[in-house]
Amino acid sequence: MTITFIGHGYVGLVTASVFADLGNTVWVIGHTKEKIENLKKGIIPIYEPGLEEIVKRNVRAKRLLFTLEYDKAISSSSIVFIAVGTPSRENGEADLSSVFEVSEKIAQHSTGYTVVATKSTVPVGTNKKIKEIIEEKKNPKAEVDVASVPEFLREGQAISDTLNPDRIVIGTESKKSEKLLLELHKPIDGNMVLTNIETAEMIKYAANAFLATKISFANAIAHLSEVTGADGLKVLEGIGYDKRIGASFLSPGAGYGGSCLPKDIKALLNISQKNGYDFGLLRQVHKVNEEAIKRISKKAKKVLPDLFGKTITVLGLSFKPNTDDMRDAPSIPIIASLKREGAKIKIYDPVAITNAKKIIKDIVFCKDPYEACKDSDLLIIVTEWNEFKQLDLNKIKKIMRNPAIIDGRNIYDAQKAKELGFNYVGVGR
Ligand code: UDX
Repeated sequence: MTITFIGHGYVGLVTASVFADLGNTVWVIGHTKEKIENLKKGIIPIYEPGLEEIVKRNVRAKRLLFTLEYDKAISSSSIVFIAVGTPSRENGEADLSSVFEVSEKIAQHSTGYTVVATKSTVPVGTNKKIKEIIEEKKNPKAEVDVASVPEFLREGQAISDTLNPDRIVIGTESKKSEKLLLELHKPIDGNMVLTNIETAEMIKYAANAFLATKISFANAIAHLSEVTGADGLKVLEGIGYDKRIGASFLSPGAGYGGSCLPKDIKALLNISQKNGYDFGLLRQVHKVNEEAIKRISKKAKKVLPDLFGKTITVLGLSFKPNTDDMRDAPSIPIIASLKREGAKIKIYDPVAITNAKKIIKDIVFCKDPYEACKDSDLLIIVTEWNEFKQLDLNKIKKIMRNPAIIDGRNIYDAQKAKELGFNYVGVGR
């Protein structure tokens, strides 16, 4: 099948590459000449394990074609996926201007029968508007159905998530479009949820809101455990074995960040408000997350009562391991708060430094964790990269000026760290 993806961010590039790898001819339309030229050479704009290899392989096989032009790609495709960004506006609502802009362009170039499927996370009702735009602008001979096929991939494991999804959600307005989308997804195993467009749009927001709720619940229990003397990690382990609850997404720590959870929670709150429903639970989820992030710098102030002039090492900057994505990363407000108190910050991250330099100024970027820990008064773990888990804590203790760790992701054995002589503070214990 020939298909098109508009947008080459995490969702667009990963999904397009996987469909090309499954034997389809896949066009990817972008709007930056430099990025498209790089992609044609297999140079990808994001860090995602395994992605470069699969892009290169499919570019070589001429199944993955990058372009700035709409005409040839759209007119030759049976399915056109919209995978452009829907960032938050000031008031939290999703900014849909790119979605509507590309819809017009699709309309201008569609011929024959085309399914326009939205992968971008969009509020309920957006696909109806896309349909209206396309109907108004398209050639009368062209026939277009819209569909919602939300994406659930996680950064850092995006390829395996796309190939082995827990479920595939397909929301359509016609049997014809459903049949075509089912055919495209045939080689991918996963529970199929076939439904209408509005339901598919809502499933995406509900999934991310529920995941955020689990994380905030874990952070609230962790905090309560700290103040009551319970072991929060054992409490969460104790509830996680219950199949009705499940153990995943119950890790307390420096809060959730990234390009999806914070944005989608704000957007769902905005949707609720517009529809006259006060989604108080979700407001609290957001608030608990902000508190969890703030608590890391509060703990720093407890360990070092006067932060002025102190050197603090931050290990991990990206919003989670295995990505260079800095969008809504908890490291940003944590570092800002420490800087406000007059602390000097030394940081290290295996891949996010280039992106971090654009956002975080006046700090010392280091080449490795040991250089970052040298002469430091406090080490804070913000992102649980694997390479931090086996650091030589003995060596770190020797090179730090003051041996103290705030383990914002609970990667170290608290007992062992204390035995080594660290003032060790985790989350929930
Ligand atoms: C998320 C959804 O998981 C995915 O289905 C959707 O398509 C996009 O949004 P992603 O943003 O890549 O994926 O990251 P995810 O693995 O969900 O983690 C989000 C944030 O939550 C990270 O900052 C992570 O550190 C944090 N987190 C996750 C916790 O603090 N505790 C947990 O137990 C799990």
